[in-house]
Amino acid sequence: MIRPALEKKRIDKMKNRQDKIQKPVDVLILAAGLGTRMKSRQAKVLHKLDGRPLIAHVCRTAASISPGKICVVVGHQAPEVITAVNNELGNDKPEFATQTKQLGTGDAVSAAKRAFADRHATILVLSGDVPLVKKETLLTLIRAHEEQQAACTILTVRLENPTGYGRILRDEKGQFAKIVEQKDANDEERAIREINAGIYCFDSQKLFSALERVQPNNRQGEYYLTDVPEILRRDGERVEVCSHSDAREVSGVNNRAELAEFENLLRRGTIRRLMLDSGVTFVDPSHAYVSAEARIGSDCIIHPDVHIEGKSVIAEGCEIHQGSRITDSRLGSRVVVKDHCVIVDSDIADDCAVGPFAHLRMNARMEERAVVGNFVEVKKSRIGRDSKSMHLTYLGDATIGAKTNIGAGTVTCNYDGKRKHETVIEDNVKIGSDTMLVAPVRVGSGAVTGAGSVVTEDVPANTLVAGVPARVKKKLNEDEKK
Ligand code: UD1
Ligand code: CA
Repeated sequence: MIRPALEKKRIDKMKNRQDKIQKPVDVLILAAGLGTRMKSRQAKVLHKLDGRPLIAHVCRTAASISPGKICVVVGHQAPEVITAVNNELGNDKPEFATQTKQLGTGDAVSAAKRAFADRHATILVLSGDVPLVKKETLLTLIRAHEEQQAACTILTVRLENPTGYGRILRDEKGQFAKIVEQKDANDEERAIREINAGIYCFDSQKLFSALERVQPNNRQGEYYLTDVPEILRRDGERVEVCSHSDAREVSGVNNRAELAEFENLLRRGTIRRLMLDSGVTFVDPSHAYVSAEARIGSDCIIHPDVHIEGKSVIAEGCEIHQGSRITDSRLGSRVVVKDHCVIVDSDIADDCAVGPFAHLRMNARMEERAVVGNFVEVKKSRIGRDSKSMHLTYLGDATIGAKTNIGAGTVTCNYDGKRKHETVIEDNVKIGSDTMLVAPVRVGSGAVTGAGSVVTEDVPANTLVAGVPARVKKKLNEDEKK
C-alpha cells in the first residue's frame, strides 16, 4: 500500500529535480577587451552603471545561479578589473585567466582553457558588457541546453536595428546554420534581425576542442567565439538556439550613449518601483537619482536633483530637499534634509534635521532630534539627542552629549599638523559663538564657554570659561545655566 503522504513527497521531489539544473554549470565571463567604442582610457567593463562597474552587475547575476566556479578573463587593466570582481564576489573565490593580447572572443575563451581542463561541465559564457541580463533568463538557457542535450545553445533575440551584432543564419529547415558578424556580413545577411546575444552554453570538452580549429580569417583578423557553433555543427553535434523576447535585457553596452540609455532605464525602473511599491513621492521623477540598492520608506518626499547612492536606507516620512546627495548612509524616520547637503557613510536617527549646506562624512552620527544647520561640517563625530549646531561650524573627531548647543563659528581644532585628536563635549553644554576647542580637550556637563574662547584645557562641569586662552570665570548655579 502506498501512503498518500509519502507518494506526494516522491512526486514533489521529482518535480523539484526537474526545476533544478542537472549537470554542474561553470561560468566564464569575458572581460579582457578595452572597448574601443567607449573612447576611454578605462576598460569598458569598469565604466559604472548605477554606481557599480558593469562587470560587477554581470558577476552578481552569475553568482546568483550558484555555479560550480566563476572564471573571468581579464586583459586590459587586469588589476583594476580583478579588484572590481573581487569586491563583488568576495567569498565566491572567482578565478581569473589572462588574455595577453586581445585577439578576439574565441581567443579570450581559449585563455581560460586551463581553468576548465579537467572538468566535464556546462560552461555558461557571459560578456562583461551585458549588465542587465537576468538570472531567470540564464536558467532558461541552461535548462534548454540540458533538455536538448546540445553541445552548444545560443541565446538570441530579435532587434529592430541589429546593426553591430552577429546575425543568426538558419538553414532551409529553420535549424541553426552559423553566426555571421556585422563586418563580415553581406547585405542579405545584414537584413537578418535575429542576433547573437553573446550568451551561450557549451559542453566544456567540445568547446575547447572546437576552439583549436577556429581561424582568424575574417575582416577583423580575430579569433571569433562565434565560429565555434558552426564548427560543432559540422562535427555533427547539436547546436540549439534559445530565443529571448526582451532585447534590452540581453543587449550590450558598446558606447557611452548606450551606457546613458541603460542608466536612464534602470533609474526609471527604480523610481517607479519606489513610487508604486514603497509609497515614495518624487516631486519630479525625471530629476531624481536613486541607486537600485537604496531603500526608501513610505511617505518620504524627494525633491528634484537629489542623489541617493549606494546602499543608503531612508526610513519613513523623510523629506530630502533639492540638490542633496546621500551616499551609503542611514536615515531614521521623519528626518528633514534641507537643500544642498552631502551625507556620506553616516547615520542619522529619527526626527533630526540637517542643512541647508551641511556636510556629514566618515561615520558622522546624529542621535534623535539633533539638528545640524547651515554650513556645518561633521566628520567622524557623534551628536547626542536634542543637541544643536546651527551655523558655520566644524566638528571633527568629537563626541557631543545630549541637549548641548554649539554656537555659530565653533571649530574643533582636531589636527596639530601631525595627528588628529578628540574633543568631548558632555550634556547640557553651551559652547559660545566662535569658540575654538583645541583637542584633545573635554568640556564637562553643564559648562559654558564665552564667545571667542580658545579652550586649550579641560573645562570642569558647571563652569563658565572665557578668553584666549580660556580661563575659569566662575562656577555656575542652576539658574545661571538656563
Ligand atoms: C560579440 C559577438 C557578436 C554578438 C555580440 C553581443 C563575437 C565575435 N561577436 O560582438 O556576435 O552579437 O558580442 O553582445 O564574439 N573580449 C575579450 N577579449 C577579446 C575580445 C573581446 O575578453 O579579445 C570581451 C570583451 O571585453 C567583451 C566581450 O568579450 O566583454 C564581447 O566583446 P565585444 O568586442 O564587445 O564583442 P561584440 O563586437 O559586441
Ligand atoms: Ca559587445
